[in-house]
Amino acid sequence: MSSKKILITGGAGFIGSHVVRLFVKKYPDYTIFNLDKLTYAGNLMNLRDIENESNYRFIKADICDEEHIRALFQEHRFDGVVHLAAESHVDRSIADPSAFVRTNVMGTVNLLNAAREIWTDFNDKRFYHISTDEVYGSLGETGFFVEETPYDPRSPYSASKASSDHLVRAYFHTYKMPVVLSNCSNNYGSYQFPEKLIPLAINNIKHLRPVPVYGKGENIRDWLFVEDHARAIDLIFHQGVLGETYNIGGANEWKNIDLIHALCEIMDTQLNRAPGTSAGLISFVKDRAGHDMRYAIDFTKLNTALGWKPSLDFREGLQKTVVWYLENENWLNQVTSGDYTHYYEQQYVKR
Ligand code: NAD
Ligand code: TYD
Repeated sequence: MSSKKILITGGAGFIGSHVVRLFVKKYPDYTIFNLDKLTYAGNLMNLRDIENESNYRFIKADICDEEHIRALFQEHRFDGVVHLAAESHVDRSIADPSAFVRTNVMGTVNLLNAAREIWTDFNDKRFYHISTDEVYGSLGETGFFVEETPYDPRSPYSASKASSDHLVRAYFHTYKMPVVLSNCSNNYGSYQFPEKLIPLAINNIKHLRPVPVYGKGENIRDWLFVEDHARAIDLIFHQGVLGETYNIGGANEWKNIDLIHALCEIMDTQLNRAPGTSAGLISFVKDRAGHDMRYAIDFTKLNTALGWKPSLDFREGLQKTVVWYLENENWLNQVTSGDYTHYYEQQYVKR
């Protein structure tokens, strides 16, 4: 795909900004178009270090705006699409499901339709849809999600992502669209909006505010360093088999409460606070409605087919992440100063 025009949607968000950065640096012959609406979760500060690169362009657009999206595809004739734009936070989806259906379902259909219209032949074209392991539902104490696990989404967020995954596959079967998909576990690292568990906890501990832990903190997530996800996305975009789905995970399961305690220890050390100071901020709050108990991914297929595996030990990754947020106070202040609902503040209800 040398000299190609690649559209990355949601490139001003958490994972998207890491993907844009990787592609801009690694593929100087590509032109990388970052299309983003810049919702509360998207911020061009996430890309300051590469925004002046000659192979990078930013387009402010809403994927729900069908006419605008069609016009952009006509104008730029993108050769490949890496689609990350989405409403991504489960708690918000519980508060307002419609926004998730609009962006995650209708926005994805608009992109598929626009690509299908301009791609008169599918040679060397590719539509890569990024999804989540949450579409598979909730696991008990044992077992792992594999690519064949039946879909069983439980939250409005995961239901909207499942719906978009089905549509992408339907376009492969019906129109022979050249699609590829991946479903990844929970990401962590720099530039994540501080409403998700890890950056929210870091930010709250820094300000000596309560750290809300939903329910008993026994829910389990499989955590992956975001740069490892970006590396997997690069591999799958270039070498994944059309029509196929690849699971991506960290082989790194943590109970929320254990993760928060590990984070508290790192924070005490980093901030020169007495041991136990951060843990003293832990506040058990009302559980999330329909809270999925456990996610765990089997990524054997990706490992066998493309040789990918996670690179970073979790404690090392967590340490790096804490240091990044503490060193980037300006970023934290800026992204939280915008016009958005501080959803998580509604959660400070002592059980
Ligand atoms: P994010 O919320 O940090 O970023 C989403 C980006 O999409 C933002 O820049 C936002 O401005 C943009 N966006 C939202 N609505 C838009 C619209 N209508 N038009 C154009 N742009 C719009 O999300 P993230 O955590 O980086 O997730 C990116 C993708 O990866 C999502 O599709 C998500 O479902 C998937 N995913 C996320 C995780 C995770 O742990 N965060 C794990 C697996 C999969
Ligand atoms: P989150 O980061 O929102 O990701 P997801 O819901 O997509 O897995 O939440 C990770 C886990 O942490 C999840 O089990 C919910 C829990 N959680 C808390 O206990 N407290 C919080 O303030 C948040 C945001 C999440």
